[in-house]
Order: sequence, then C-alpha cells, then structure tokens
Amino acid sequence: MLTARRIVRMNNVVIVGAGHAAGQVVASLRQNNFNGRITLLGEESWYPYQRPPLSKRYLAGDMQAERLYFKPQVFYDQPNIDVRLNTRAMAIERATRSVHTDDGHAFSYDYLVIATGSRPRQLALPGADLHGIYYLRSIDDVDRIRAEIKGNRRVVIVGAGYIGLEVAAVLAQLDQQVTVVESADRVMSRVVSPELSKFYQDVHAENGVQLKLSAAISGFDGDNRIASVILADGEKIPADIVVIGIGIVPNTELATDAGLDVTNGVVVDDHCRTGDPHIYAVGDCTWHPNRLLGIELRLESVHNALEQAKTAAGNICGEDLSYAQVPWFWSDQFDLKLQIAGLSQGYDEVVIRGRMDERSFACLYLRNGQLIAVDAVNSPKDFVQSKPLIASRAKIDHALLSNSDIALKDMA
Ligand code: APR
Repeated sequence: MLTARRIVRMNNVVIVGAGHAAGQVVASLRQNNFNGRITLLGEESWYPYQRPPLSKRYLAGDMQAERLYFKPQVFYDQPNIDVRLNTRAMAIERATRSVHTDDGHAFSYDYLVIATGSRPRQLALPGADLHGIYYLRSIDDVDRIRAEIKGNRRVVIVGAGYIGLEVAAVLAQLDQQVTVVESADRVMSRVVSPELSKFYQDVHAENGVQLKLSAAISGFDGDNRIASVILADGEKIPADIVVIGIGIVPNTELATDAGLDVTNGVVVDDHCRTGDPHIYAVGDCTWHPNRLLGIELRLESVHNALEQAKTAAGNICGEDLSYAQVPWFWSDQFDLKLQIAGLSQGYDEVVIRGRMDERSFACLYLRNGQLIAVDAVNSPKDFVQSKPLIASRAKIDHALLSNSDIALKDMA
C-alpha cells in the first residue's frame, strides 16, 4: 500500500548563518517535505562547509576545498532555495518579521533560524595586529596560513586546545619548527583529565613540538611583520608565523539587539525555540537545556549543530521534537584519534581501560559511581559503546570498567 508523503505547506524560512548547522537546517527542511521558500544568509563566500577538517587534513593540504562542502553546490540549485553568500545580516526586526542585510535588502520570514555560530576569541595585546599573526576558523584563514608554510619556518602557536594542538601536529609533520605557548599548566585542560594531558604532551614532545606551559604572553614584537612573541617573564620566542587558538565566543549580537534572551549563547528551549515563537536558534551560538545531562549549556560541537538543526527543522514543519543527546567531539593529532563522549567536568574518579603505551586506550570518568564521559584514544569501540552507558547514567564497578577483555556494551 502506498502511503501519501506528508506535504508541509509553509511560506518562508530565513536562516542567518551558512555553516554546518545552517546546511543541516536546509537539508532537514527538504527531508521534511517543506515546500516553502528557504533563504540562507551567509557572510562568507562559501556554501555551508565542514570546519573540523580545516585544522587537520585541509591544513595539511590533503583535501580540496570543494570536499569540505556539506552538500554539493547543485543541492542549493533548486527553486525556492535562495543562497545569499557574502551577505551579512545586520538586524532582526521582530515586529515586521524581517532580517536586514548589509547590502540594503530586507528578507521577511515566517520562521527565522539563527545559526550564527561563533568566532575566535581575540588576543588583545600590543602587536597583535602585526602581519603573520593568524586565527583559524574559516577556509580563507587556512588558505592564508598555508601560503606561509614553506621551508622550515618558526611557528608559534598560542593555546594548546583542539585548534592549537591539531595545527601543531600538522605543521610539525610539514617540517615546521613548532612552539606551543599555553597559559594553563597542561594541554587541553578544558576538556580532558591530567592523565590524558600528560599523554598528549609526551606525544607532541616526541614529535618535536616545543611546549611552554603556564606561560603568559605580554605581546608581539616586529616591524610591520611578526618577529617574536614576548612572554611575561621577558623571554622572546622568535617567530615567522603565529597561529592563535584560545577559544571561541558565540555570535549572539543579532539576537541581543533583537531583544531575545541571551546569556553565554542565545537561550533556546529543548525544541531549539527562542522566547519568540517565530525564531529558532541552533549550533555553537545556543544556550540550551539537555535533559540527559540535567544542565543548561553551550556546546562547541558539530554533532550538536547537526542535531539541533534537525530538531528545529522538524519543529518548523509541525513535528514535536525535543533535543537531548550525549555530546561527542573528536580531535586528530599525529596518528591519534581522540573521541570524546559525554562531559567529564565534575568527575571524581577516572578509570583507564587499555594500555597508554600501546596508544590505544580510554579514560572513563565517573561521578558518584556513574559513568559520565569517555575519552577514547584510537579506541573507537569504547567510544561507540560508551554512549548508551552514559545516556543511561549506568553505575558500573571500577574493576569491571578497567577490564578491557570485557566489552563496554556487555556491561549495560
Ligand atoms: N595564552 C595562552 N593560552 C591561552 C590563552 C592565552 N592568553 N587564553 C586561553 N588559552 C588556552 C586555554 O587554556 C586553552 O587550552 O587556549 C586553549 C583554547 O582551547 P579551546 O578552548 O579548545 O579552544 P580552541 O582550541 O581555540 O578551539 C575552539 O574550535 O575545534 C573547534 O569547536 C572546537 O571548541 C573548539 C573550538
């Protein structure tokens, strides 16, 4: 028997932003048989693309820009999809339900999706505007950095988070002389345990990366172009290029100016809806509840961007979707694939499964005996099998967890 596909009649959805989340909103609206008009407003000159490879394979030169696209360009060549690139949304006028752009146009909406993402946090120090100092967030940023990579240049990276360490690994493998300056006393301190930080510090050192921990930068020196990075203790590190990766800030200004509720992100409910029933927000820019975690939070995560986008698109099409997922993230450095499930903040016990010296293991984080997060290094099974355990807040014996002869899936 043939089942009639549900046709959702709607007029007009405008999406501000053209990143990963925005691309997924378009795709999900189409999957939901949305047949109204979709307008995508993006300030970059690229169709929605994946950012994670930027600091990995794309920086290494192993990937063409077109391969980064979330969907091939022809996907958007459909009647009723209007992609406006190089177009910046300047204001949301809620009374008239319209978005004003920097080229003087106004786009009216029945539903608006704010998918404005985030931008690199800037280091406001003397000399920060010298040539040769870069941030990494877009294809254009990486193209500029890549153009500088030649010979055996001295690269100073500021920040030993995801961006800093991934860039360090790629550039060390391209025979650059890499120094990483980190203000905390260990790498990736925002997301992983001291045990894992130590492991990654050793791997970077083995590969020739110089790490300067607990180091404060007081400024940058050079005549028009960067020549050295100055530390607070007076040390000067010679530099031909500097790459700064000290975290991101959500792009919330449009929402704030429109009078929407904003804290550390645009406030949405579990349906990805703001306080205005005609406005949704998705991705890095949102402050949202997660019933599985029992908290409200902002997440810098592709998975979150995709899932919130699906949720918002479904709800615009009349579904009743609620977003609640175990967050996950990944990072590639040298031959190591780090996959993180859950959030380890607040753990009171850490269990190591597998052997660190064999470079295949997992750190399991417990709070009050419950598994709350897993950092799996070259251990994809532990990563995949931990997610349902984290979602169900399983309480598992320490000795059992550390026994890598027993699969995590058999511990439920
Ligand atoms: N000097 C040196 N290090 C600093 C300074 C500073 N002034 N300020 C912050 N840091 C360090 C932090 O201690 C942290 O280790 O910079 C690091 C930033 O790491 P992340 O928070 O992981 O941010 P980043 O690496 O920039 O990545 C930003 O991009 O990969 C994506 O979504 C992913 O969340 C990630 C985002």
